[in-house]
Amino acid sequence: MERSEIIVNDFPRSPISESFRLFRTNLFYLFENDESKVICLTSSNSGEGKSWVCSNLAISCAQYGKKVLIIDADLRKGRQHRIFRKSNRAGLSDLLKELRGEVKEEDIPKIVEELTIKIQDTEVNNVYLLTSGPVPFNPSELLGTANIDFLLDLLKKEFDLIIIDTPPASIIADALLFAKKVDHMFLVACSRKTKKELLLNTKKSIEAIGGKISGVILNQVSTERRKEYSKSYQKYVVD
Ligand SMILES: Nc1ncnc2c1ncn2[C@@H]1O[C@H](COP(=O)(O)OP(=O)(O)OP(=O)(O)O)[C@@H](O)[C@H]1O
Ligand SMILES: [Mg+2]
Repeated sequence: MERSEIIVNDFPRSPISESFRLFRTNLFYLFENDESKVICLTSSNSGEGKSWVCSNLAISCAQYGKKVLIIDADLRKGRQHRIFRKSNRAGLSDLLKELRGEVKEEDIPKIVEELTIKIQDTEVNNVYLLTSGPVPFNPSELLGTANIDFLLDLLKKEFDLIIIDTPPASIIADALLFAKKVDHMFLVACSRKTKKELLLNTKKSIEAIGGKISGVILNQVSTERRKEYSKSYQKYVVD
């Protein structure tokens, strides 16, 4: 059996779970002054821990009583269904096809019905998942032409928090599509792996289109370095 990645669920007293509680507190502090509900995580490069952070953050927020939806918007290499051991036969990719262009009044009941079918619950109470769905022929075009604003507005009525998992922004532009549509963007960086220059370039490209980075999540920090970081104040440090 594959090792579980949902550490915050399986080991709520672990230091990792504590880090996520800290992140959650900072997040809700950010949300305090506005009606924020939608966040998006991306990174400069692949394998830096976006999907892992999305799922564990979602669990931490659900443990706090929030109804959380994870949208797996990595249409090429979506992994949330694996993390939560769910089916990926249907998901976001099919839904985006229905959301092309102007959404007509008469289409809304069908879209709502599709959403109800495609959003799955998970083994974690209050964590729901819209998986990436079958890999489409044209992922970026599909995301670029779909009415994401409409989709998010519908979902905001149902969930307290929506977390969007995306591909790495310096490789595939899909995450940039969300930059203007979400309330907060976060960059995941991997300790000793992420190249500073690439991270700064990713930040610039998000800002160039009017997006705003609300924080950087430093992932995979060794125990020794955690101690150093906790001496000087760091916003978000995971593991
Ligand atoms: N803090 C961590 N502790 C232990 N394992 C981790 C941690 N962060 C990530 N991982 C592991 O590293 C691997 C890559 O993580 P993940 O898939 O979340 O990265 P990603 O940024 O989403 O990658 P991609 O760019 O391919 O989508 C996974 O096996 C995940 O379980
Ligand atoms: Mg991923």
